[in-house]
Amino acid sequence: MNLSRGTDSRSESVAKTTVIDHQTKDHAANGKRVDDMETGSHQQKKLPVTAVIVGCGHRSLIYASYALQQPDELKIVGIVDPLEERRKAAAAKFSVSEDQCYASVDDLVKGPRIADAVINGTMDALHVETTIPLLRAGYDVLLEKPIGISEEEVLSLYEEAKRLGRKVMICHVLRYAPFYAAVRQKVADGVIGDLLQVLTTENVSYHHMATAFVRGKWRSKEQCGSHFLMAKSCHDLDLITWMKTGVRPVKVSSFGYRSYFREDQAPAGSGKRCLVDCEIERECPYSAKRLYVEQQMWGDYIWEYSRVSRDADDEAKLEDLRTENPYGRCVWRCDNDVTDHQNVIIEFEDESTATHVLTGGTAKPCRSIHLIGTKGEIEGVMEDGYFVIRKPNLDNAREPLEERIELNVSNDMHGGGDLRLAADFVNMLKGGEPSISATSLESSIYGHLIGFHADQARLENSVYELQQLED
Ligand SMILES: NC(=O)c1ccc[n+]([C@@H]2O[C@H](COP(=O)([O-])OP(=O)(O)OC[C@H]3O[C@@H](n4cnc5c(N)ncnc54)[C@H](O)[C@@H]3O)[C@@H](O)[C@H]2O)c1
Repeated sequence: MNLSRGTDSRSESVAKTTVIDHQTKDHAANGKRVDDMETGSHQQKKLPVTAVIVGCGHRSLIYASYALQQPDELKIVGIVDPLEERRKAAAAKFSVSEDQCYASVDDLVKGPRIADAVINGTMDALHVETTIPLLRAGYDVLLEKPIGISEEEVLSLYEEAKRLGRKVMICHVLRYAPFYAAVRQKVADGVIGDLLQVLTTENVSYHHMATAFVRGKWRSKEQCGSHFLMAKSCHDLDLITWMKTGVRPVKVSSFGYRSYFREDQAPAGSGKRCLVDCEIERECPYSAKRLYVEQQMWGDYIWEYSRVSRDADDEAKLEDLRTENPYGRCVWRCDNDVTDHQNVIIEFEDESTATHVLTGGTAKPCRSIHLIGTKGEIEGVMEDGYFVIRKPNLDNAREPLEERIELNVSNDMHGGGDLRLAADFVNMLKGGEPSISATSLESSIYGHLIGFHADQARLENSVYELQQLED
């Protein structure tokens, strides 16, 4: 068997605890900017990298907020969004003048290039369509995941970026979460030997599932462009291929169904809308009133395109949920078509295997990983903030040696990953050494191919053989 190799580490002891301080490491890799003649002067004057936001929604504004935190590193100089109120809000937040605001990418690329890069936070089906003209206009791009919604789209972007020599970084934020970055480093250091099995789970809470994947904008492939697996576990499939860096996945299969969030599962007494004709609203965990008004969950989504804002009073919100707001619908009577649980199995070219288990509707949201190598195991739950390295104890076979690795995690999204990713993008544009988490387009493609073909294999009840990418 030809497994990927690493160096051995012999530093374990029984129940040892190690604490990794990620805060101090964050900006260590910032290097010099190597760029074309227009940006060469930035290097001398130490000017920030400049970027245009394309699609001023939740995600892009999170990455762009790095410009407010580190104004010497990143400056937002342009805005693109078809919605005037979003353009105006983003322009005000980042002090962008009106003449640098555009209603479409076409309008932006008609003129001369106004920045080094673009932060593209449009929805899934627009990623490739909007990124290709930006690359052609000379912008490097930080692109939200998924790269695109089909293998053809993803490969077309890959080919175009390669042809043009432009940089595209994919927002696989979990690679930047201290938990996963530290796990990956241990694997790269050969601490558990060669990986034989990669097991990951993603548990999507019942309220997240109901909001995003039953009532909301990721509820149907037709609506969003992506299926549940790609919309939610694109990250986990990426983590699997990242842990197996240098070893190609060759086969994939998958099982999964929409078994619960459909009309024939609706409990007696439920209606079409929680606040109109439901007799069990007070005991239902999915009650729109309880989740979105009483507990004020998921406000960014619920009041996003609604008549009432998230600052409206409770009566106005209840009336909206009673009448027009799609998030007021019964979870068993929506127009959702995505699975609510799905497993994916993968075989790699070195005969190692991986399994990912995605479940929507759990009590507690969390992600776990269990890596089994030839010399030991790594196991942990990201939200717990630590993982364990386990090895055989030659002196006492009943008690494995355990080292607990504690992460000093901050509270921002994705285990601290979002702003680290933005920092790494800036660092990359400045010509700095890529970090271990760097998510180039090339290194993100196999995770996507697994996702697309897992869905195909699930629907066809087959095993799909993945093609090899040409260099
Ligand atoms: N990395 C992650 O963990 C993560 C988490 C959630 C969502 N996402 C992904 O992020 C992306 C954005 O999600 P979101 O919730 O921020 O979306 P959003 O709806 O809040 O934002 C999208 C924005 O794009 C704008 N837009 C629409 N058409 C456009 C066009 N042609 N050109 C430019 N802008 C256009 C919309 O008006 C909107 O402001 C999605 O692909 C989603 O799957 C990633």
